[in-house]
Amino acid sequence: MRDQEPGIKDQTIVQDRSPKPEARSPSLAVEIAGIRFANPVLAAPGPLGFGREVQSVVDLRAFGGFVTKSVTVEPRAGNPYPQVVQTPSGWLNSLGLPNHGLGGFIAKDLPFLRTLGIPIIVSVAGESVDEFVTLVEWVAREADVAAVEVNVACPNVHAGLVFGVDANLTYELISLLRARCPVPLFVKLTPNVTDIAVVARAAQEAGADALALINTIAGLAIDVERRQPKLGGVTGGLSGPAIRPVAVRMVWEAARACTIPVIGMGGITGADDALEFFIAGARAVGVGSAVIDTPNVASQLCEGLTSYLVRHGFSSITDVVGTLEISS
Ligand code: SIN
Repeated sequence: MRDQEPGIKDQTIVQDRSPKPEARSPSLAVEIAGIRFANPVLAAPGPLGFGREVQSVVDLRAFGGFVTKSVTVEPRAGNPYPQVVQTPSGWLNSLGLPNHGLGGFIAKDLPFLRTLGIPIIVSVAGESVDEFVTLVEWVAREADVAAVEVNVACPNVHAGLVFGVDANLTYELISLLRARCPVPLFVKLTPNVTDIAVVARAAQEAGADALALINTIAGLAIDVERRQPKLGGVTGGLSGPAIRPVAVRMVWEAARACTIPVIGMGGITGADDALEFFIAGARAVGVGSAVIDTPNVASQLCEGLTSYLVRHGFSSITDVVGTLEISS
């Protein structure tokens, strides 16, 4: 029998039922110093403290990672009250690094942080080189500590800024600590310097794995009736949206001066604020004070970042990093 050419009527219409590739949501994941963060919004110190204090009101697991308030060798009650005042341009704080000390942190705070299931970065602040060495060696040997952040930027303690405002001291301290730290070492930089690029480069050359900036800007608020400082610690550190342009500028300068990742922070309250930092060169951002008004700020930022990526056709937040265009 002759093979019949199938007529139109005989043809079976085969429908393709194989799964269609779905429009994939852009990725918010970032990697810094080998640590994978599911999203680039990190819980920065400030009102978030060590996490336990705010766990009932803030969904800490929505953050890509948690950076602790700085741990010191001995427990600290903090500076005299008032520790925080509101100014027309943001919060001025002189907390003075209140914390349970190294032993208290390991016994009380770290076990809670471990339950979050996100990378934990432990900030440490020493009053001397020896104290920094002690802190880094003890903290870095604890399980589940993804990285140690060296805070050479606190404006509210006697020795806070000694290292961070001097590029040579920063280099010496970080070189020493780098050799003793088996996990990635981040360095928190202060904006209270003339040229952030010089200190950023010193930290990188000493072996820092990432930079975090900026800490608060030193300020003074005066009660004119009493002619006295409003803060118990006299001077303090200014945070909030007013410092954002300064922070974005410094992130841009540090990112241009260095090849290691930069984590940007300072006055972020919405996705556009965070995007300014990414475009300036930050690979992740830190959010602290914004949780006071918006406890779910991390999820809100992630939603806003995702919709920006979709709108601009980017497949990953990393595609946005350092894309500032300057027309000559
Ligand atoms: C403080 O505890 O005084 C603020 C922390 C810091 O600025 O590093």
